[in-house]
Amino acid sequence: MRVLVTGGMGFIGSETVLALMENGHEPILVDNLSNSKEDVLDKIEKISGKRPHFHKVDCCDYEGFRKVFEEEKNIEAVIHFAGLKAVGESTRKPIEYYTNNLLSTLVLLRLMKEYGVHNIIFSSSATVYGVPKRVPLVESDPVGGATNPYGETKVMIERILEDANKADPSLNVILLRYFNPIGAHPSGLLGEDPNGIPNNIMPYISQVASGKLKTLHVFGDDYPTPDGTGIRDYIHVLDLAEGHVAALNKIVENPGVVAYNLGTGKGTSVFELINAFEKATGVKVPFVVDPRRPGDVAANFANCDKAFHELHWKAKRNVEDACRDAYRFQTTGASK
Ligand code: NAD
Ligand code: UFG
Repeated sequence: MRVLVTGGMGFIGSETVLALMENGHEPILVDNLSNSKEDVLDKIEKISGKRPHFHKVDCCDYEGFRKVFEEEKNIEAVIHFAGLKAVGESTRKPIEYYTNNLLSTLVLLRLMKEYGVHNIIFSSSATVYGVPKRVPLVESDPVGGATNPYGETKVMIERILEDANKADPSLNVILLRYFNPIGAHPSGLLGEDPNGIPNNIMPYISQVASGKLKTLHVFGDDYPTPDGTGIRDYIHVLDLAEGHVAALNKIVENPGVVAYNLGTGKGTSVFELINAFEKATGVKVPFVVDPRRPGDVAANFANCDKAFHELHWKAKRNVEDACRDAYRFQTTGASK
């Protein structure tokens, strides 16, 4: 299929572009490079031997984005990754987050209607479940009550897509709710390279291991979990990318609106993650225990049975694989 990939130069988008090409699809990338670099395209070409079409365009810019639909013709599906994603920043810049994430989606939906594109896969997040009442989370659990503006944009966009489908049932929508994506491409060329001090644990651990940062701060060891640290569902970004290919195979069956959790189904604590990293890389990760980070929950992991039964997809890689790949990227591809 000819698939428009918004945010295709980003962390998850670029891996998905590779997975799409590996499976015979033709991705067309759109990105404004607000959180990615132009050389990602060279790296995609180096890995795959192919250079997909890339348009440097802001998805909020109707005229600019319309030219992409006009030039590319016959787009059959869209995977919509483009968006701002930093939880903490979203509380400081709510207007920017609401504007960018909502407007880009609204402009995209308008153009899809104008150009007769009926299939959209959306990058949603486990954050739409708010504070979980129980784990593992299933797709039918209540959505809403996100604890920050970023999460609220995901809740709102899910709702917008559902309403768009109600008004026009020929629009197929797959909502992919990601848990905690980690890892990198095994080549060491592509991975997560955040600006400044990382908010998320995996890039933080990698930067401590490589010597760029001194000590990991573990946010709380007094949670009601077996070792007291927070539990999350860490999924290798390559598994996540393959989940999008599986969703594309599903969307051609005209499923209407359907949501899937993409995780591993397995919870890993912060201490277990540190141990896995040390085992996978042989590098020690010095840490100190700090108080809990406000807004964090004790445990958050997915039930992924629905994706297994309906998409015939499940995560194949484990946390150690992801740690090894993340560290390889940190020591080769990432900015020093
Ligand atoms: P990323 O920042 O690496 O990629 C997003 C890309 O979108 C970037 O390349 C950025 O330049 C681009 N972009 C942002 N706004 C744009 C706009 N208006 N027009 C065009 N391009 C724009 O982030 P990622 O980790 O790859 O995340 C991809 C998607 O998955 C996001 O929607 C994110 O919210 C969602 N998600 C990510 C995580 C995670 O932990 N990484 C978890 C759940 C959901
Ligand atoms: N943690 C530390 N030290 C750090 C960073 C994190 O101990 O320096 C801990 C956290 O307390 C938590 C775990 O590591 O227990 C994971 O934290 P991350 O920041 O890596 O991930 P979160 O689960 O907080 O957030 C992720 C995504 C968000 C998404 C959220 C809910 O980054 O985009 O899951 O699905 F909204």
